Amino acid sequence: MSLPSKVKIVEVSPRDGLQNEKEFIATPVKIELIDRLSQAGFPNIEAVSFVSPKWVPQMADGAEVMAGIQRRPGTIYSALTPNLRGFEGALAAGIDEVVIFGAASEAFSQKNINCSIAESITRFEPVAQAAKAAGLRLRGSISCALGCPYQGETPIASVVDVARRMLALGCDEIDVADTIGVGTALRVGQVMRAVTEIVDPARISGHFHDTYGQSLANILAAMEAGISIFHSSVGGLGGCPYAKGATGNVATEDVLYMLRGLDIDTGIDLDAVVDTGQWISGHIGHKSSSRAGNALAARKAA
Ligand code: HMG
Ligand code: MG
Repeated sequence: MSLPSKVKIVEVSPRDGLQNEKEFIATPVKIELIDRLSQAGFPNIEAVSFVSPKWVPQMADGAEVMAGIQRRPGTIYSALTPNLRGFEGALAAGIDEVVIFGAASEAFSQKNINCSIAESITRFEPVAQAAKAAGLRLRGSISCALGCPYQGETPIASVVDVARRMLALGCDEIDVADTIGVGTALRVGQVMRAVTEIVDPARISGHFHDTYGQSLANILAAMEAGISIFHSSVGGLGGCPYAKGATGNVATEDVLYMLRGLDIDTGIDLDAVVDTGQWISGHIGHKSSSRAGNALAARKAA
């Protein structure tokens, strides 16, 4: 299959990128990160979570963050909402898209959201209905689609089964997520092709963590399977506190550099993203893990 001419990038650093940071990041820093990303032209930014602050303390200030940002017309601002309480918080904060997040692995579902896969779908039903009634977009995320830190390789049938249930809930978009970054290109192609048999490829996204350095290859394999929406995080920030050993998301700078080389349009200003990746990494006190980001920043500084 030929590659897409256009790709939608969902920038997840304000949520996935920051949620795993141990030190609380001040609300104004989170606001500035989102504002910089908005100015760089991202069509979709996963901004905050409305989850239990006991489970993920870093995301406790979602309402304040949303109240402080300058919204760019045309950008969709998303939030994770595991239950109705989270949905109500998101609605009050003026979120455009709510994300229900399940898993293709029973063990990870228990660790991350404290219930079985079947219970999670039951819990998502009222959230999905409320989102539709409020006219919001609804996205469903499937964690551990390529492997689970507790159960090992995930059967493709389990991913397809959860995708079918997410579709039945009315999801506008479905994320196939490699939470711990174990997937390789062949398997990613197989999983994506299996999901495209029941979901329109234009509504499927790839969410790849880069733990094993496979993300760019996996994105290419997913594009060959017809996928044209990908999640990424500036500076390669990211990780889930309930996914042992997992590192950050694929770095946005690396994805944009690759897509530019493939002549695939994203509408995003790579130069502004490089600056933002360096800025937020400095704030958090880690060196950016984006190879392209660091190389482009060094070239600028020379
Ligand atoms: P629980 O303990 O089973 O449920 O947690 P609960 O209803 O008993 O609630 C526990 C406490 O949290 C109660 O407070 C609730 O009021 C409160 P207490 O009575 O003890 O004082 N609470 C909330 N507070 C604020 N907002 C809410 C909310 N809900 C309950 N929405 C629950 C169940 C789902 C709440 C919990 O397990 C949770 O919050 N989990 C979130 C975990 C999470 O955010 N993980 C990271 C995101 S997922 C991810 O990173 C993967 C992804 O990137 C894709 C990939 O890479 O795979 C998306
Ligand atoms: Mg993730």
